[in-house]
Amino acid sequence: MSTRALGARATTVALSFTVNGRKHQVRVPPMKRLLDVLRDECGLTGTKEGCGEGECGACTVLLDGRSVNSCLVPAIQADGAKLVTVEGLAARGRLSALQRAFVERGGAQCGICTPGMLVSAYELLGRSRGRVPSDPEVRDALAGNLCRCTGYQKIVDAVQAAAREASPRRRAATKSRPARRLGKARR
Ligand code: FES
Ligand code: FES
Repeated sequence: MSTRALGARATTVALSFTVNGRKHQVRVPPMKRLLDVLRDECGLTGTKEGCGEGECGACTVLLDGRSVNSCLVPAIQADGAKLVTVEGLAARGRLSALQRAFVERGGAQCGICTPGMLVSAYELLGRSRGRVPSDPEVRDALAGNLCRCTGYQKIVDAVQAAAREASPRRRAATKSRPARRLGKARR
């Protein structure tokens, strides 16, 4: 990291970090909010601003695997870090099972809270390692994410549905299904 003074008031620092597996280098004031760096410098506008005060969770991203309110994190804290934003959840432009579950179960309505909810839920599912988290566990993991539209139950249902889809038992059941006859089945 290098520092360049541009007069008494405007000092910028060069930072590098990875977002969703892609390296970024930016030169910004060290106390610029990570939320603004992601949106303005990296062009990743999926992360939303709700309250701007650390209360609503709309701006949640993962910083080195831990969820943070990016409206409260100064840019300099992201130097060298690995970040995940909501854009990182979809692989090759296809929605993940978690994102699909939010759509299918009405877990997303106006959408302001949705990116933060998804990132917090993604963190929870990573910790759960294929186990379906209980209703209280999901609610606890999402306690920092506020939603004024859904009443929360649909979000909890969506997270559990995505966990069920990813659970080892379900994967095993899918694997053990008889092979479909596509003309290449072994005899
Ligand atoms: Fe960051 Fe509300 S915008 S917590
Ligand atoms: Fe509108 Fe959650 S869907 S705030």
